[in-house]
Amino acid sequence: MNLLKNGSLWKDSDGNPIHAHGGFIIYYDNFYYWYGEDRRDDYYVNCYRSKDLANWEFRNHVLTTDSKTKHTRVRTQLSLVNGDHTKVNIERPKVLFNPLTKKFILWAHFENGKDYSEAAAAIASCDTPDGNFVYHGHMNPFGYMSRDCTLFQDDDGTAYFISAARDNADLHIYRLSSDYMNVDKLVRKLWQGEYREAPAVFKRKERYYMVSSYCTGWAPNQGKYATSDSMDGNWTLLENFGDETTYDTQPAFVLKLNEEEILYYSDRWDAENYINSSYVLLPLQFEEEKLILKYYDQYEIDDDKNIQFK
Ligand code: GAL
Repeated sequence: MNLLKNGSLWKDSDGNPIHAHGGFIIYYDNFYYWYGEDRRDDYYVNCYRSKDLANWEFRNHVLTTDSKTKHTRVRTQLSLVNGDHTKVNIERPKVLFNPLTKKFILWAHFENGKDYSEAAAAIASCDTPDGNFVYHGHMNPFGYMSRDCTLFQDDDGTAYFISAARDNADLHIYRLSSDYMNVDKLVRKLWQGEYREAPAVFKRKERYYMVSSYCTGWAPNQGKYATSDSMDGNWTLLENFGDETTYDTQPAFVLKLNEEEILYYSDRWDAENYINSSYVLLPLQFEEEKLILKYYDQYEIDDDKNIQFK
């Protein structure tokens, strides 16, 4: 039996705090792999793995200032440090397994580490889920700004990169090329002027859902969601979920275990001390297509991997 308290610093199996913010989880070969930001030392992205979503084994600093770099057919800027050897920002890293190339492809938000003027998308890849990722640089998809972002893989393998454009005013959905190494088409511009950040997408009963936050930096705000019958279709107007601070959280990603168990993973940022930021995991509940988010203090995972929120 494992009890995890929301809003605390969850520990890995070595007893160290888990550093995996603005993250993402994929299921591959009987393990959940959790990727996320680590802003300490020379690290950018960490990877942990688990069989039960409770016990997390630290696997690797998969992207660091020293990661190998390699050009692809996409012209990008390759450097992982600034001219004065200071760190850049790699935020909200997301990883998908590409079924055609059998590679793990990472997309993230790139900034120069000094300000938020770069507004670019960064790409990296690896042959294994937790190996050393090779960095392929950053670029502006079709010339657009690209800030808070997420990835979504549809049932047929089509993948999408979703990111905030025009100084966060608009949210873009790009369909990725079949190797996930480039954007192929800007399929949708959503909610112009509504300033959505921290997007996370999932599909339930053939409907697509996207949760997001408003744009207030590290401060939490009212979460909203919308639905559509296809990624490039007509998304509904934004509706509230959770309370006016989304229980002091900002979405990181949504993990669907099955049609009934869909998990909202979020960051509870510590604006004064980023390293102390914690995690909040809550169940997404549904009334027909309406999304409900209630607060629970903690969750428990029993030996059969059942999750109980209390
Ligand atoms: C948040 C965003 C984070 C980070 C932060 C910096 O709004 O979601 O990923 O960029 O701003 O202030």
